[in-house]
Amino acid sequence: MISDSQRVWLVLLALAVYVFICVLSWLNHVRRNKRTQQQIISDEGVVLVAYASQTGTAEALARQSAAQLDGNTPYQLLPLNQVNEDVLANTRQALFVVSTYGEGEPPDNGAAFARHFLKGTFEQDLSHLQFSVMALGDKLYQQFCGFGHQLYQGLTELGAVALTPPLESCASDGHNPQQLISQWQILSGFHSDAPLEEPLLNTEREFVPAKLINRRWLNPGSPGAPAFFISLQTQQAFDWQAGDIAELKFPGGEIRHYSIASVAKANIIELIVRQHRFAEGGLGIGSGWLTQHADLQDQIELRIKPNPAFYAVDATVPAIFIGSGTGLAGLRAHILERAQAVGEQPLATSWLIFGERDPQKDAWLQSEMQTWQQQGLQLSLAFSRDEQNPDYVQDVMLQQQQQFLSWLEQGAVIYVCGSRKGMAHGVDAVLQQMLSQTQFEKLINQQRYRRDIY
Ligand SMILES: Cc1cc2nc3c(=O)[nH]c(=O)nc-3n(C[C@H](O)[C@H](O)[C@H](O)COP(=O)(O)OP(=O)(O)OC[C@H]3O[C@@H](n4cnc5c(N)ncnc54)[C@H](O)[C@@H]3O)c2cc1C
Ligand SMILES: Cc1cc2nc3c(=O)[nH]c(=O)nc-3n(C[C@H](O)[C@H](O)[C@H](O)COP(=O)(O)O)c2cc1C
Repeated sequence: MISDSQRVWLVLLALAVYVFICVLSWLNHVRRNKRTQQQIISDEGVVLVAYASQTGTAEALARQSAAQLDGNTPYQLLPLNQVNEDVLANTRQALFVVSTYGEGEPPDNGAAFARHFLKGTFEQDLSHLQFSVMALGDKLYQQFCGFGHQLYQGLTELGAVALTPPLESCASDGHNPQQLISQWQILSGFHSDAPLEEPLLNTEREFVPAKLINRRWLNPGSPGAPAFFISLQTQQAFDWQAGDIAELKFPGGEIRHYSIASVAKANIIELIVRQHRFAEGGLGIGSGWLTQHADLQDQIELRIKPNPAFYAVDATVPAIFIGSGTGLAGLRAHILERAQAVGEQPLATSWLIFGERDPQKDAWLQSEMQTWQQQGLQLSLAFSRDEQNPDYVQDVMLQQQQQFLSWLEQGAVIYVCGSRKGMAHGVDAVLQQMLSQTQFEKLINQQRYRRDIY
């Protein structure tokens, strides 16, 4: 039996426990509520940092700019093509870091965005969006930072509010990432005290001397301008991968780019170079030096320009290599790298569609192509001056459409290398003709349409 006073104490204890539990659950409720509110605030406060970049400079700058945001500001980093209607609808603040290619065109990973949102057909109101554009380009081109300006104007027309004017940067002047990021931070109000780390841009890579050790004329008698197979040798062993570009500095300081035609072996870099001759008879600075003016053993400066948009996929994944003329360079590097990767296995997952002019005089690298065929590579040649059967590479794609589509169904990656106007535009048009818009964009978004075009 318990006494009355014990009973009172027990009731008081039960009451205290009850009050304690109530207070605890109320505190929990308040804490949870507060967290949810914080979550909502930070979701709304996510800054979009989007980039369109071919050779990685704009991408590196975008990453760096994002890293410079105040530690409490969450961000989302995306290639421009992945910025869709939902992302635009849910973003309040954005930074776009974009370079320009062709003649004022977007890099490949911004082309689908440009088609959707900047052609005047998109009607969503973007007045909730505040943005800045960092525009990378080169004053050597007529439409300096053309795509950056197109993007700026397009977003403004859709109602988005610019926080800064377009922030231009020129490759020939040497991009200055710190200056650009500070400019953006000051003008946009995204100031942070985070220490500015150096992005790794190609301008920080060192040039090394390279000796011309071999030069072979590939097309004597061709109706096209002379093209040469060039070998350069550096003192130290060099590292690069198929898809990378050689940046050459010629006497006088002019810089030119050449797709690398070989795999990283020892310290020899091979190129395929077309001679440029002006109407008055003189030769282009770079191609003139490489194909005629320089003697064997003469030296120039070389550095590797990484070109990740044109890198290899696993050698077991089918690949269709399409190119004409000197575009063979970038494709050859890939085919050689694949041959190395598969070893004794056949090259059966590779298809080369190569175009030149004259079937007799333009049999570029004929014996090497025959070896690749023996190794299992499928070869299709197109000659535009063939009297019986004049063809361009895009004609071959159409003639073999069924097989082409079946390769794509099996997951093939398309590599296009060479002239932008003469060949790549034609290939692009045929591809868009063969595929629905959704299929075409899927190909791009899956990074199965890789280009090194100039
Ligand atoms: C990513 C990339 C990869 C490339 N890969 C290759 C490759 O693998 N192989 C290859 O051959 N090329 C390649 N190129 C092109 C190469 O970089 C050079 O543009 C090409 O060799 C011409 O340069 P050049 O110095 O010989 O000619 P330039 O001196 O630059 O002259 C080029 C053209 O400019 C005009 N021009 C310039 N000065 C004059 C003048 N005084 N009078 C009249 N016209 C003039 C002419 O039309 C002339 O043909 C690539 C380019 C890029 C961007
Ligand atoms: C083939 C080619 C075409 C280019 N066309 C243009 C152009 O039309 N306008 C421009 O301002 N810059 C042009 N550029 C310069 C690039 O935009 C510049 O080098 C930029 O830094 C590249 O950035 P990325 O590494 O992010 O692709 C061109 C460069 C190349 C190689």
